[in-house]
Amino acid sequence: MKQHGFSTRAIHAGQEPEAVTGAVNVPIFQTSTYAQQGIGDHKGFEYARTHHPTRFALEQCLAELEGGTHGFAFGSGLAAIDAVMRLLPPGAHVVAGDDMYGGTFRLFDKVLKPLGYRFTYVDFRDVEAVRAAVAPETGMIYAETPTNPMMRLCDLQAIADVARDSGAMMVVDNTFMTPYLQTPLSLGASIVLHSTTKYLGGHSDLIGGAVVTADAGIAERLKFLQNACGAVPGPMDCYLTLRSLKTLAVRMDRHCANAQKVAEYLASHPEFGAVHYPGLPDFPQHELALRQMRGFGGMISTDLGSLEKARSFCAAVKVFAFAESLGGVESLLCHPVSMTHGSVPPETRQRLGITDGLVRFSVGIEDAEDLIADIKQAMEA
Ligand SMILES: Cc1ncc(COP(=O)(O)O)c(C=O)c1O
Repeated sequence: MKQHGFSTRAIHAGQEPEAVTGAVNVPIFQTSTYAQQGIGDHKGFEYARTHHPTRFALEQCLAELEGGTHGFAFGSGLAAIDAVMRLLPPGAHVVAGDDMYGGTFRLFDKVLKPLGYRFTYVDFRDVEAVRAAVAPETGMIYAETPTNPMMRLCDLQAIADVARDSGAMMVVDNTFMTPYLQTPLSLGASIVLHSTTKYLGGHSDLIGGAVVTADAGIAERLKFLQNACGAVPGPMDCYLTLRSLKTLAVRMDRHCANAQKVAEYLASHPEFGAVHYPGLPDFPQHELALRQMRGFGGMISTDLGSLEKARSFCAAVKVFAFAESLGGVESLLCHPVSMTHGSVPPETRQRLGITDGLVRFSVGIEDAEDLIADIKQAMEA
């Protein structure tokens, strides 16, 4: 379906009507195994960790949306990242962004580093710093853009050039943007991955992950790792993610429109500190955002100045739910220091600007006026 538009692919790719009944939705095949006709005689499905029709439909759809050839679904975003890291042997060197989701940092620092993997963390806004950090033994460059929670961007095409020159794989966590707003494979990345828990799932009702590539060699190894390590999602979660992909484009348009209004409101009120949102004209990397993103997304962070102010603000919101996670239809508010980024060392948080007063908004698809009124009343409270 490569010639079709994004929404057509989201609704149809991998989702032909079912062969037996013609059901237009991919069924939830709630099975762990498949009857075989005889020794070595089966319909291509042997055991559900290895072969699963609902999961295959999701994987094909995700691959087509990201402009890749192979998709792999996992039981969580971190399971997807873990599988990608296993493409490298212990001892390998990775150059990673210094501002990323705290759970990814915890996986790198507390699980993989003790196994011998070596990480160099760099400010990915500075392409030359990334180039300088790459060594002959570097196996991977790992990027998030925009970063969580500071919304910093990296120039995907320029960093993919560094990766290509050095022979390293370039991996991009595209969770914040989704393939509707940004397609890293088209800019030179080798692998794109997601926490599908966020915008792709979109309704805060599942945990999942995904990896997509257009490289047949990488795909073969990922397929082996997915089956050999076994962190696959269940059929129900695959179905829910597929159903959510059908509305991804309309949801993302609304997330972007609402976030733009909320960011403009925050930026026009002096009681809020710097507002980090790529759609604001004075965002330091606004030009880059216009170049590599098709919209600015639904995530905003801003500094309320102190822990006390953040505490009372988080307790006072009524429409926003004070909760971890992001990307659902409902608006969420998070305090990174005490929630998502608790495992990042305090000195690193300080350096990155993840202060005690920083709050992060995941702007949902409710009425923007209600969201702004909620922020206003919480500030007054
Ligand atoms: C950017 C990003 N990547 C990966 C993850 C991990 O995903 P999961 O919670 O599905 O394991 C998260 C979770 O918040 C995230 O925000």
